[in-house]
Amino acid sequence: MNIIQVQDYTEMSRTAAEILIGKVKGNPNIKLGLATGGTPKGMYDDLIEDHVRNHTSYEHVTSFNLDEYIGLKPNDPNSYHFYMDDSLFTHININKERTHLPNGTADDTNGECQRYDEMIDSVGGIDLQILGIGQNGHIGFNEPGTSFTSGTHVVTLEDSTRQANARYFDSIDEVPTHAVTMGISTIMKSKEILLLISGEEKAETLKKLIHGDISEEFPASILKKHNSVTIIADQKALSGV
Ligand code: GLP
Repeated sequence: MNIIQVQDYTEMSRTAAEILIGKVKGNPNIKLGLATGGTPKGMYDDLIEDHVRNHTSYEHVTSFNLDEYIGLKPNDPNSYHFYMDDSLFTHININKERTHLPNGTADDTNGECQRYDEMIDSVGGIDLQILGIGQNGHIGFNEPGTSFTSGTHVVTLEDSTRQANARYFDSIDEVPTHAVTMGISTIMKSKEILLLISGEEKAETLKKLIHGDISEEFPASILKKHNSVTIIADQKALSGV
């Protein structure tokens, strides 16, 4: 894993945006894997600013998001569909038809999971996957204990994950208990991975990722087996390393 050390959240976001913009310019048909949460928000803001200023085009880009809550409709302000529209898609010239998120309200959730993996395969896989990380080492919504061989699947969210995400909801009771997430094997098939990590609340997580063993109890540890992972980490996140 290659680590780019940056000062703070602002520099992490800008560095990630520059890398992503370079990849999109080099391959206008790129297949991107996108993430939600607080971490990539600044990067999305920088992509929008660049799009307005430099007209970087996303016309031929295809995207697949990592995850979606079960039970939230796409127009629910707490759904990841809404987050992506609001944070990025409606501000750039991406073709909405080529943006994909798991359907959290499908009648047949397991069928939906299989369909999602097939769709990713049918376009030749993800070229660049953006990742954040949960404090417990989760990537996407793959909680500790998830099999490294998992494809896209339904997960029960840990209490700590629901609590960490409760800040976006009116109360913890409104945070869904389940989600659909791209599996670990789906993520590992991406040709290149960019992991963003910022803040002191992630310092222990980054320390564990760098110095810990590869174990299903710490899902992100599998990234050590991928041959093209870049971590962009700020000083606060690096403070425990
Ligand atoms: C959520 C998302 C993850 C994200 C993680 C960290 O649970 N499903 O994709 O990486 O939490 O979120 P944040 O960036 O807000 O710390």
